[in-house]
Amino acid sequence: DRGLAKLRIRLYELNREAARYYHGVLLSAQGRAGMEYFEKRALAPKTISRFGLGYAPSDRFSLVNYLRKKGFSEQEMIQANVAFSSRNGHAIDRFHDRVMFPIIDLRGNVIAFGGRILGQGEPKYLNTSDTPIFSKGRNLFAMNFAKDYAEPYLVLCEGYMDVIALHQAGFQNAVAGLGTALTPEQARLIAHYTKEVVASYDADAAGQKAASRSIPLLREAGLTVRILVVPDGKDPDEFIRTHGESGHARFQQLLDSCGNDVEYRLTKLKKDINVQTPEGKIHYLNEAAAVLSALDSDIEREVYAGKLADEAGIQRAAVLQQVKMLREKKQ
Ligand code: CTP
Ligand code: MN
Ligand code: MN
Ligand code: MN
Ligand code: MN
Repeated sequence: DRGLAKLRIRLYELNREAARYYHGVLLSAQGRAGMEYFEKRALAPKTISRFGLGYAPSDRFSLVNYLRKKGFSEQEMIQANVAFSSRNGHAIDRFHDRVMFPIIDLRGNVIAFGGRILGQGEPKYLNTSDTPIFSKGRNLFAMNFAKDYAEPYLVLCEGYMDVIALHQAGFQNAVAGLGTALTPEQARLIAHYTKEVVASYDADAAGQKAASRSIPLLREAGLTVRILVVPDGKDPDEFIRTHGESGHARFQQLLDSCGNDVEYRLTKLKKDINVQTPEGKIHYLNEAAAVLSALDSDIEREVYAGKLADEAGIQRAAVLQQVKMLREKKQ
């Protein structure tokens, strides 16, 4: 409807002004703490301007006052979720003392923000809630840039800083979810631009769990999926920063050598099960057969059944028989 269309246009304009404000503050004396923070995280000035990064100062009405001068109403500020309403009805800035990451849609509109606290504290990231122009499950951070670099594959990671560090190191095909589990819409968005995705989640337990959960969604969207496990328990940003000058080459190596989702799941099973005992070996083979039984392609099942059989010193037919049995049971 007309009213909603008009509101959305206003909110795009408002968010653009807010991003401009935060960015200006970052570059000013008032934004010194934010600039020092980004320097500590090895971001170059070029990267800061490309991503339009910013800083939200500590006072409670700085953005609200700025936007009011630009002609926006408090109601609009609240609808855009850059401000909230105080008890006496006045709009108050939502973001304080945080470095700001604008979230930009495919047409280049600023639609939301993530704000990171400079030190310790909760929440580490404060994000825009869903608004008339933002739905976090339907957007991916940096897709506005990455869509032009999506072939042969996109790199899907967890965090804003992972994406920014990757782009800075020359991997402009990196995108991230927005702090929630991957959604089917996000998987389809990736599949709209490419046929293959490399999921590069944090190496910690939470990240690996999230990676496992994303696999079926990405597959269902028709994507070929590979999983990059960052070494030494790091996330992609930490990995790249640790390796300094050789960060690009080292990450490229990881991208070139990482296996697909089936290999990832089988490797993970093998790590969790002691295959030295006969019972363990049988358990592993049964679990592995269950992984294979979920594959739709006959060829894929044949290939991995062969690998498993070789590994375990048994006949491929025995593995395939078990896989077949599990598939029949499912129907
Ligand atoms: N996230 C969030 N809210 C939080 C914590 C995390 O929205 N309270 C989202 C952010 O998008 C974040 C991502 O989840 O980038 C991954 O979280 P985490 O690994 O904890 O943070 P990093 O991205 O590694 O952040 P940093 O390197 O700045 O510590
Ligand atoms: Mn403020
Ligand atoms: Mn994490
Ligand atoms: Mn992380
Ligand atoms: Mn990190």
